[in-house]
Amino acid sequence: MTRILEARPLTPVTKFFRLDAPLIAASAQPGQFVMLRAREGGERIPITIADYDRETGTVVIVVQEVGATTRRVCALEAGEEILDVAGPLGSPIELPAGGHLCGVGGGFGTASLLCLMRERRASGGRTTAIVGARTKDLLILLDDLASLCDAVEVCTDDGSAGFRGFVTQRLAQLIAGDGPGRPDHVVAIGPMAMMRAVAETTRGHRVKTLVSMDPLMVDGTGMCGGCRVMVAGKPRFACVDGPCFDAHDVDFDVAMRRNKAYVRQEHAALERLACASGRD
Ligand SMILES: Cc1cc2nc3c(=O)[nH]c(=O)nc-3n(C[C@H](O)[C@H](O)[C@H](O)COP(=O)(O)OP(=O)(O)OC[C@H]3O[C@@H](n4cnc5c(N)ncnc54)[C@H](O)[C@@H]3O)c2cc1C
Ligand code: FES
Repeated sequence: MTRILEARPLTPVTKFFRLDAPLIAASAQPGQFVMLRAREGGERIPITIADYDRETGTVVIVVQEVGATTRRVCALEAGEEILDVAGPLGSPIELPAGGHLCGVGGGFGTASLLCLMRERRASGGRTTAIVGARTKDLLILLDDLASLCDAVEVCTDDGSAGFRGFVTQRLAQLIAGDGPGRPDHVVAIGPMAMMRAVAETTRGHRVKTLVSMDPLMVDGTGMCGGCRVMVAGKPRFACVDGPCFDAHDVDFDVAMRRNKAYVRQEHAALERLACASGRD
């Protein structure tokens, strides 16, 4: 059992949790994730470790409601417990030392930038976060990122905050030398379509780019093969070989097709949950 110490909504569909998880906090590194199960008999789902504090033994995760299990997790409050939280799993993000790191975040992926930027800045690198959302109300953790990064660039599709346009348009401007300047490395974490667009933006500019892939996972430990992604023409398991891979080597078409494989079953699970809880 893992106790929830803090739980607060960030948007109508995204919730911040601070967990009492000293063993995970002791060895977690940026890029890794946990597998959690909310209740007995429930599905295990992968969730990125957004941040950790080794001294207090706490771990932060940010969960976005998309289906039955994430909805169950987001219904939990401080003082309640999550049945299983296993981790840290996956390989940490590996980047060459120094230089200017630009982290591009969308949706819950923005949260995953927290520990990455903190560790990077502590090791002497320059850090810029580019954070995007459709509209101002869906932006998350801007103050936290502002305290951890040298610069935070906000983008909204509707222009309600910051730059009007996509994160990739702002990234292209930075590569051209604008604002905080050209990045040496880019790490993109967010919806698959966004990560693919980031890969296309940096391709051809000799900017090393990593993306954090989020395929469907079952065991999270390399045994089921469910999380297979094609990278440089070879099958790799995101749970043990990743989840971060060189963006220019990832076959996003295959990855996006595979993520839609169980849409019918996922909708059925959500309908069952809605019937059981009286929600529509
Ligand atoms: C390494 C990794 C890290 C992740 N980190 C986070 C995180 O920090 N916070 C967070 O909220 N979510 C994260 N996810 C995604 C999360 O695991 C899924 O949203 C969750 O499994 C969905 O479960 P569900 O039962 O609520 O929805 P389901 O009923 O399983 O799915 C509902 C809908 O979401 C889509 N979906 C399901 N899983 C994924 C996925 N992995 N990627 C894209 N679309 C998906 C389905 O196609 C469907 O349309 C991560 C996934 C991976 C692989
Ligand atoms: S989730 Fe089973 S092999 Fe990766």
